Amino acid sequence: MDYRTLGATGTKVSDLCFGTWRFGKRTGDTLETDEEEAHDLLDACWEHGINFIDTANVYGNPNGTAEEWIGDWLADHDREDFVLASKVYFPFDGWGDPGPNDSGLGRKHVRAQIEGTLDRLGTDYLDLYYIHRFDEGTPVTETLDTLDTLVDKGKVNYLGASTMAAWQLTKALWKSDVEDYERFSVTQPLFHAAYYEDVAEYLDVCADQDLAVCPYSPLAGGFLTGKYERLDPGDPQAVEAPDGSRGGFDEQFTEYYLSERGWSVLDTVREVADEAEATPAQVALRWLIDQQEFTCVPIVGARTTDQLDDNVGAVDLSLSRDQHDRITEARYDESGQVIGH
Ligand SMILES: NC(=O)c1ccc[n+]([C@@H]2O[C@H](COP(=O)([O-])OP(=O)(O)OC[C@H]3O[C@@H](n4cnc5c(N)ncnc54)[C@H](OP(=O)(O)O)[C@@H]3O)[C@@H](O)[C@H]2O)c1
Repeated sequence: MDYRTLGATGTKVSDLCFGTWRFGKRTGDTLETDEEEAHDLLDACWEHGINFIDTANVYGNPNGTAEEWIGDWLADHDREDFVLASKVYFPFDGWGDPGPNDSGLGRKHVRAQIEGTLDRLGTDYLDLYYIHRFDEGTPVTETLDTLDTLVDKGKVNYLGASTMAAWQLTKALWKSDVEDYERFSVTQPLFHAAYYEDVAEYLDVCADQDLAVCPYSPLAGGFLTGKYERLDPGDPQAVEAPDGSRGGFDEQFTEYYLSERGWSVLDTVREVADEAEATPAQVALRWLIDQQEFTCVPIVGARTTDQLDDNVGAVDLSLSRDQHDRITEARYDESGQVIGH
């Protein structure tokens, strides 16, 4: 495993982060990753040298399950070997219905949630605490002041911001600078080889402000692994999904990831994978790791240890500049327009 400094922080992380969104998650009748599988995956991360683990208070059903399972596993390991990230914002329901202050970035909710997160993870500090979204209902200074205090108290080492508009990220950074609050140093947008234009301005802010970028869904939920076969040249959303794959049971998969642009990018990813004697998953991840404008650490969401073994191959892969650029350009048609849905 290779390690790199996480943007402007003083913390070193593996080239890949491991995401735990599927731990304890129920989609319809499917329990996506059970506790034993979760612990096998964490064992595999440890064996591969992945030291960076991404979770959120709301992951799992009931919410908090993912953090609890990570905490149980960490109890048999040295917490200091890991860089732990979690998040706050979405309604936290536990076993009941969320109340009016059980979501958002107000002081009351953030202070309650950090305690729950630390307790479930069995640690007294997080390396990285993300706001999962921007909260338009809370003054940004209240949120920043609350987060700044968490850093002062040693409950959190660094702050991160996940999906939001570029102007919201800019506003939060500007407020931190003028009010002298701890600023966000890490971001977590949806970003992969077939999804760029919608986050282009956000990524420009990251590059300009020296923020590390940890893309989520870096394989477009598995689409960029090449395991989905197209069934109809006239319909980008008609696919044959392998048994048990996310595309087979998660309705959002089709809506989010299946597009003409996606197929165009996947064709080039497959071509480069053949040339490099690698898998499409490894090529798609390497394309992210190789971003030049900012430190880029993709969050892989492997559901099996075989998938994780495959993904880790991205670390030792080299792509030429030409191969990298061909993947970047596959989003555009011959006239330079972004290919649509
Ligand atoms: N901040 C946010 O709002 C946000 C949102 C989403 C995710 N996240 C974070 O990002 C992490 C990753 O997201 P993601 O799970 O969508 O990432 P992803 O890597 O795009 O997709 C993961 C899925 O791809 C498939 N896969 C992965 N490696 C494979 C391989 N080598 N061969 C075949 N299939 C493979 C598996 O699908 P199958 O299930 O079909 O086997 C797996 O469930 C999450 O765990 C979470 O930590 C954050």
